[in-house]
Amino acid sequence: MGVIKDILRTMDYGPSPESSEHVGVWLEEHKAGFGHFINGVFTKPSDLFDVFNPARGERIARVSQGSPADIDAAVAAARKAQGKWAALSGFERSKHLYALARHVQKRERFLSVLETIDNGKPIRESRDIDIPLAARHFYHHAGWASLIDSEFPGTKPVGVCGQIIPWNFPLLMLAWKIAPALAAGNTVVLKPAEFTPLTALAFAAICVETGLPPGVVNIVTGDGATGAALVADASVNKIAFTGSTEVGRTIRKATAGSGKKLSLELGGKSPFIVFEDADLDSAVEGVVDAIWFNQGQVCCAGSRLLVAEGAADALYAKLRARMANLRVGDPLDKSTDVGAIVAPVQLERIRRLMRQGEEEGLEFFRADDSVPDRGCFYPPTLVTGVDPASVLAREEIFGPVLVATTFRTPDEAVALANNTRYGLAASVWTENVNRAFEVAARIKAGVVWINSTNMFDAAAGFGGYRESGFGREGGREGLSEYRIADELKSKPNSSRAPRLNASPGVSPARNLDEGPDRTAKLYIGGKQARPDSGYSYAVLDPAGREAGLAGLGNRKDIRNAVEAAAKASSWGAATAHNRAQVLYYVAENLAARQSEFAQRLSATTGASARAARAQVDASIRRAFVYAGYADKFDGAVHATRSRFVTIAMNEPWGVMGVICPDEAPLLAFVSLVMPAIAMGNCVVAVPSSSHPLSATDFYSVLETSDVPAGVVNIVTGEANVLAKTLAEHDGVDAVWYAGDTDGAARVEALSAGNLKATWASAATIDWAKTEGREFLRRATQVKNIWTPYGE
Ligand code: NAI
Ligand code: MG
Repeated sequence: MGVIKDILRTMDYGPSPESSEHVGVWLEEHKAGFGHFINGVFTKPSDLFDVFNPARGERIARVSQGSPADIDAAVAAARKAQGKWAALSGFERSKHLYALARHVQKRERFLSVLETIDNGKPIRESRDIDIPLAARHFYHHAGWASLIDSEFPGTKPVGVCGQIIPWNFPLLMLAWKIAPALAAGNTVVLKPAEFTPLTALAFAAICVETGLPPGVVNIVTGDGATGAALVADASVNKIAFTGSTEVGRTIRKATAGSGKKLSLELGGKSPFIVFEDADLDSAVEGVVDAIWFNQGQVCCAGSRLLVAEGAADALYAKLRARMANLRVGDPLDKSTDVGAIVAPVQLERIRRLMRQGEEEGLEFFRADDSVPDRGCFYPPTLVTGVDPASVLAREEIFGPVLVATTFRTPDEAVALANNTRYGLAASVWTENVNRAFEVAARIKAGVVWINSTNMFDAAAGFGGYRESGFGREGGREGLSEYRIADELKSKPNSSRAPRLNASPGVSPARNLDEGPDRTAKLYIGGKQARPDSGYSYAVLDPAGREAGLAGLGNRKDIRNAVEAAAKASSWGAATAHNRAQVLYYVAENLAARQSEFAQRLSATTGASARAARAQVDASIRRAFVYAGYADKFDGAVHATRSRFVTIAMNEPWGVMGVICPDEAPLLAFVSLVMPAIAMGNCVVAVPSSSHPLSATDFYSVLETSDVPAGVVNIVTGEANVLAKTLAEHDGVDAVWYAGDTDGAARVEALSAGNLKATWASAATIDWAKTEGREFLRRATQVKNIWTPYGE
């Protein structure tokens, strides 16, 4: 410490390290290595690997590399514990979660120091943000545990959940995963990240202390191979993953067709938009939080600064001045702002991307290039004048690097903001409330912060659009990922039984130009369209006689239909009242032609006149139900932090592919298409291959009901072939598939390309009974908008 007059001159801080003594003792006690936590006890350490403190480059512990056998044992323990855990009263489960919350809170200081030593993040952040929020998640979900039965009627726990988490918020991500899973009656096997397993192991000790029943929480440490073994385990019912988009994609493919539920919280390249009328001083503090919090290793980091041309110079000047005050260094020091990068490979990744940026001729600003000479550090960096096509504007750098671009108009700002394959978060800065909400509504991201950034709370949903993943964590939205419908376990269809053998040129495929034109065409962009193949196929009745001809659609037709659907996107912005009116009109027009539709159903499916009539009646009623829902599937205002309004809005996916089953061809078609369009989606529907004619008869119902062109497109043909094109198509945002096991598996696997959400079922569904909010939930994604108030 210097002489007082020197200190007064420089106004420099002296060192103010947090004591790490207790953590040191604990690590010393476990010098021999940590085992896994399985069935309530720690296993013998084996196959050890080193864990480092990245700020010092020192080994601090050794943990076990989980083998497939360890995963098996953990999953078996979780399976064994699940029934009893789910059978506990909500109140009993609630008490367990409450105890976990209390104990995490009691050990806040220990856990903060341990997190900082293991991860390299500043103690100020682990102490003020990570650990308190982790405790908050357990408290919040303690409440849900006792409410789950009354608040989620008709559902049950998913079962055993495999949870894989990253290293950027180790204990917080554990809380995000474990708390809702347990509250909803599931048991878990959690795999922490290999760089940061220590707070999870400390949490395991807390589970012992609080008397959590053995097997309810199991923790297996290890690297990606251990994670892959967990994903592959056949008796796991759900995988919840947070991490890179690349691994998310691998997991999507690996779980395809397994029946596992899946939620993915992946990467991002989130825009931070500053309009000319923004409060620039607040915006600068926002930027500091957005990109230098946790060294920029944040999935929702505001890593792309988009600033109005007129404000850019002023903002950059303020930002450069502010950067000079950021203190980079010892994470345990209470006045450190920017700590260490988690591991050498991550540091190298940042450097590699920056070298690429340099090769592109980009200029970097750093207030101070120097970093501690030991450990993994990277200085806060600002890159201005970045072209949207630059690698630095596209790739997730996951480091303390901000790339900035200017815009001229709000439209351009929105276009730049959405010019990414990700969609996790966005931050919008303007003093104009109208503009703020307009921009928030137009940005494709799961979370939008107005005049704020990086706000989180257990009561609000968090999760992405597009390649940032699907599913939400937090609040009611997050809990529904951990419940399934009661009756969903019906008999799977092992194969769709198409009575068509429809390769072009092979009977019964027909050249459209031959003979009288009895062929139902496709319906694309509000018009009847000839299939691209020029072929049709015979639709047979139960006796094997030809009941009609349907167009044999191919990938080109699907692409045209997707294009037409994308063009009709203003449907999503129509008022809910408008959409309701259109749906009522559909129902009315279907009712007007009831007997014609019933006759067609009897003739093509062999249903009795009575059954056919009942199916048409049910279809009319269903259209009414979803017309009624169109303006009633509300969002929510979450109870989060003081002086914030957190609005959860249900937004349509955009373009949905809907592949209908063979059973109940009219009713299933209506049951799937109506909720999708009621919520504002535009649909490419593939009707039953065997019984497509009630869907093709539907064209004229759509035409007479004021359904705007492109909102419903219908492509007939071999359902599983067309499903494949829809699942692969990057212009499709979500796919619903009802068919057979192979088809469902293929849809899930192929959706990995743009990580579209899928809802695929091979079960024989009783369509007469299947309707309601779940369809609306699956037809939407939730955007949480945070707005502060007060001066
Ligand atoms: P990662 O996605 O490989 O690691 C996340 C977790 O997944 C870890 O627990 C890891 O062991 C596990 N894992 C890895 N491969 C797996 C597999 N095949 N099956 C199952 N689990 C597997 O991320 P990594 O390599 O640590 O970081 C690379 C980049 O990923 C970062 O630079 C960043 O861009 C991004 N990332 C994004 C995160 C986010 O929160 N969105 C978190 C961590 C990384
Ligand atoms: Mg570490």
